[in-house]
Amino acid sequence: MTLTIEHLGQWQRTHNCGSLTREHTGEKVLIMGWVLRRRDHGGLIFVDLRDRWGITQVVFNPERDSGSHQKAEDLRSEYVIAVRGEVIGRPQGMVNRELPTGEIEVLVDDLRILNSSLTPPFAIDEREGPEVAENVRLKYRYLDLRRQSLRDNMVLRSLVSKWVRDYFYSEGFLEIETPFLTKSTPEGARDYLVPSRVSPGRFYALPQSPQLFKQLLMVSGYDRYFQIVHCFRDEDLRADRQPEFTQIDVEMSFITRDCLFGLMEGLMADIFPRALGIDVQRPFPRLTYSESMARFGLDRPDTRFAMELVDLTGPLGRSDARLFVDTVDGGGVIKGLNVKGQESMSRRELDDLTEFVSIYGARGLAWFKGAQDGWKSPLAKYIDDDLRGEIAQAADFSDGDLLLVIAGSEDLVNESLGQLRVHLAQRLGLIPEDQYHFLWVVDFPLFEYDKDAGRFNSMHHPFTSPLEEDIPLLATDPGKVRARAYDMVLNGAEIGGGSIRIHREDVQSRIFKLLNIGPEEAREKFGFLLDALQYGAPPHGGIAFGLDRILMILTGAESIRDVIPFPKTQRATCLLTDAPSPVDPDQLVELGIRLRK
Ligand code: AMO
Repeated sequence: MTLTIEHLGQWQRTHNCGSLTREHTGEKVLIMGWVLRRRDHGGLIFVDLRDRWGITQVVFNPERDSGSHQKAEDLRSEYVIAVRGEVIGRPQGMVNRELPTGEIEVLVDDLRILNSSLTPPFAIDEREGPEVAENVRLKYRYLDLRRQSLRDNMVLRSLVSKWVRDYFYSEGFLEIETPFLTKSTPEGARDYLVPSRVSPGRFYALPQSPQLFKQLLMVSGYDRYFQIVHCFRDEDLRADRQPEFTQIDVEMSFITRDCLFGLMEGLMADIFPRALGIDVQRPFPRLTYSESMARFGLDRPDTRFAMELVDLTGPLGRSDARLFVDTVDGGGVIKGLNVKGQESMSRRELDDLTEFVSIYGARGLAWFKGAQDGWKSPLAKYIDDDLRGEIAQAADFSDGDLLLVIAGSEDLVNESLGQLRVHLAQRLGLIPEDQYHFLWVVDFPLFEYDKDAGRFNSMHHPFTSPLEEDIPLLATDPGKVRARAYDMVLNGAEIGGGSIRIHREDVQSRIFKLLNIGPEEAREKFGFLLDALQYGAPPHGGIAFGLDRILMILTGAESIRDVIPFPKTQRATCLLTDAPSPVDPDQLVELGIRLRK
């Protein structure tokens, strides 16, 4: 028998699938949705009907209406139906406490089948069946989005956006859009380019952020700007990076850093309690960049657990171990991590850790085990008792502990040991899952030196103002100049970053020069900014948050893809639409582009 698809006609919902409770008992209702599950039970047919609000059980009883009962036999998963019926209380023992609608069911008087469905490639009900491979989920994203966990994430995403808007509006901010077809804004990644048909050989760049436009808005006098906005960056992807992601972008005029911090802490203190029911303690602690690097090895420290890095350059540099002595002679550092109580870690596990740190360039991982009968380590014999005492004290190292040590250049040691600290804490279960440690990292260096290119790069972006007291160093020791830049860090993730900007044309030109951007190039790339700064640019500053990253933390998602409706893969492709894809040769001709074979 072929299935008859019916018209919706004049039927209108009286309720959604999440709203009916015991209070509605006896009411005639009309609900619509998707068949999540159908069960036949001795003449009765039960269907779990789903929409985005919830699930309602509907019952087809041949004695109530034989026509709809017969049609219900054709229902399959994900068919779209409308039912009219009466709300009745479920019999004792049949109540489902897990569902808000679990006390009732709808006894059907009339059914319309509005559409059929192919059998989905995976169960929409996540309780059924094994975990689904992500590439399949991404190809059928519209089905994946029907599943409860993603739906919860999307609902929260929508709510968070609304709370953000409400917060900024209540603080007197204006929401202003900025263009996507624009010129490159350097944020440290490659640009996505869009060729122009009208101007052959010319390209727009999709914005890596609205940075320059928000600064121009300050010049225009639109103090207190915000925008929830897509940004585009062609960079190596990681678990918390997408080529196209969303920022909560903010800029303000005539502000101090502390004023901005207060407002942004207020934003977090608004969102997090609403989403998670937790308290957010203010003010957030502040850590300078150099302190963060010294203690945690990273500029986004996770302070939910201790196990801080210890500098052992002094004592180990005076040991007889060649490796350590050579490191110090070469200007390097030696730092350690005391893993409390892990003296029994096996050789194999230590090898795994060595391999882990090699990803960050560490050539080896030295270890010392504290035992009753002395230190155990292939290197123990090179370290005399005095030095052992010094090390034990510095690292709080005692019996039963495991001390892991890396030697090398400061950057390498900090990065590899900092990553190892987080890796070990995850592995050993040292991270309390229900804590939220917000903090600010401040006083970043203005520049970082690129050894290969033999030049300075901006650590944040070239529009960041130097600390006033460090301006004289621009002429003498640029590497030492600190920036008026800051990051907001939560549980080891950089959720936002910003700075007080340069608002004077002469300072901006000077910074471009230090960055090896000559006057012509500066004019060509940023002439509009340099001009604007000469027409009464106010002192200004701002910040941008990664909305997706905030949502990852709020939902506990391990992948950024689980909080984005239509994300891209690690290779920046869209498995749903198959983008990027080849284009019609005629389009290329129109754009004046010829592809290389
Ligand atoms: P920044 O480059 O630090 O600053 O970006 C701000 C925040 O955006 C998030 N983020 C990302 N999230 C997902 N995928 C990505 N590829 C990605 N890249 C960045 C991070 C980050 O903290 N214009 C400046 C802001 C300013 O100075 O006001 C900027 O874009 O959470």
